[in-house]
Amino acid sequence: NNLDTLYRQVIMDHYKNPRNNGEFDGDDSVTVNMNNPTCGDRIQLQLKIEDGKVAEAKFSGEGCSISLASASMMTQAVKGLTTEEAVAMSGIFSDMMLGKDYDEDRFDLGDIEALQGVTKFPARIKCATLAWKAMEKGIEDNNQ
Ligand code: FES
Ligand code: FES
Repeated sequence: NNLDTLYRQVIMDHYKNPRNNGEFDGDDSVTVNMNNPTCGDRIQLQLKIEDGKVAEAKFSGEGCSISLASASMMTQAVKGLTTEEAVAMSGIFSDMMLGKDYDEDRFDLGDIEALQGVTKFPARIKCATLAWKAMEKGIEDNNQ
């Protein structure tokens, strides 16, 4: 249907024109490398955390369109959130991926909702959640 077509276009746009793709110079960021165990693809995520907020986020690596589009959307969405909010958003995304009712109102989910259709392809859910798990790990590492 039309919504599926729109969502597919949003995903392809993030895949082809990824937001926040690349690496930071310098060492004021936390770096996480994470594999998707089901396919071996990996991404690197870097976060700059300042005053308890995600000030900047960048990613690089290899993966399928779903994983890279999700990374692009995630980096865009978490910028400016507190680390607690970013983790909470990851929980909402995880609910979405599990096909549960998810909290649509707490945050502006923007393009992220285009990934809803992934729930119909259980094998791809790990692709979609890879960057989010990396983000949670980065925040955890930063807190230590
Ligand atoms: Fe990578 Fe379909 S998204 S094979
Ligand atoms: Fe490897 Fe999706 S197939 S991340």
